Amino acid sequence: MAKNTIMVSAERVPKHIAIIMDGNGRWAKSHLRPRAYGHKKGVDRMIGLMERAFDRGVDYITVYALSTENLKRPQKELDALFELIRTRFLDCMRKVCARGVRLNIIGERDLLPADVQEILEKAEAETRGFEGKGINVALAYGSRAEIVRAANLAVEKGEKLTEESLSALLYTGGQPDPDLIIRTGKEVRLSNFLLWQAAYAELYFSDKMFPEFSDADLDDAIAYFSSKTRRFGKTDEQLENNE
Ligand code: IPE
Ligand code: IPE
Ligand code: MG
Repeated sequence: MAKNTIMVSAERVPKHIAIIMDGNGRWAKSHLRPRAYGHKKGVDRMIGLMERAFDRGVDYITVYALSTENLKRPQKELDALFELIRTRFLDCMRKVCARGVRLNIIGERDLLPADVQEILEKAEAETRGFEGKGINVALAYGSRAEIVRAANLAVEKGEKLTEESLSALLYTGGQPDPDLIIRTGKEVRLSNFLLWQAAYAELYFSDKMFPEFSDADLDDAIAYFSSKTRRFGKTDEQLENNE
């Protein structure tokens, strides 16, 4: 090798990316359109980003699509969101999951309309045979509620919890924790998303509203992740010595 050759190490791609898709409403407002239009654009963008992420070698994607707290929004907005699930969800998920991706809906799904629950179950059932790659769509999801639910499952079984057993009882049980959490929409907070699983995630906040967060922006977020040294509490020297 020539003496001055610069070795550029391959970019490290996160195994699991979680995305807080925020800013649909503000994006719509800035385009003088109703909030529902922003959500429609947000769904389209989400599908594009999922395809990009899987193309880049990501194995798991978790999307925060509706929080438990969002259920307090005006009924008109909720109806528009549920209508998007009725009209678009199956087709969109079939498109992305065709590459062997398992779909998992996380959250308190019984808080959603019955016909919406049926659609979600149908979409999940179609991917049941797949393993190794996954999409979690968080709907009526709250992280504290998820942790309490897991703790209660342990109590019912009379089990004392460990970190491992609690992790296994979460909706994301069996999956790697998110390595990278991206939030669009200018806010720097987690809003009750994956609080337990985020313990060592890299956090990436974008000022862009979700409908305008491009594939190139996702690449930037992955490059940011790749530039980080993940020490998990250790020193750089320990990492260098593989300790
Ligand atoms: C995120 O966008 C999607 C949902 C919460 C359903 P918002 O609807 O929160 O958009 P902003 O934050 O009001 O712009
Ligand atoms: C977080 O966004 C939830 C989702 C993106 C689904 P919010 O818009 O609900 O968050 P806050 O209320 O600004 O914290
Ligand atoms: Mg918001």
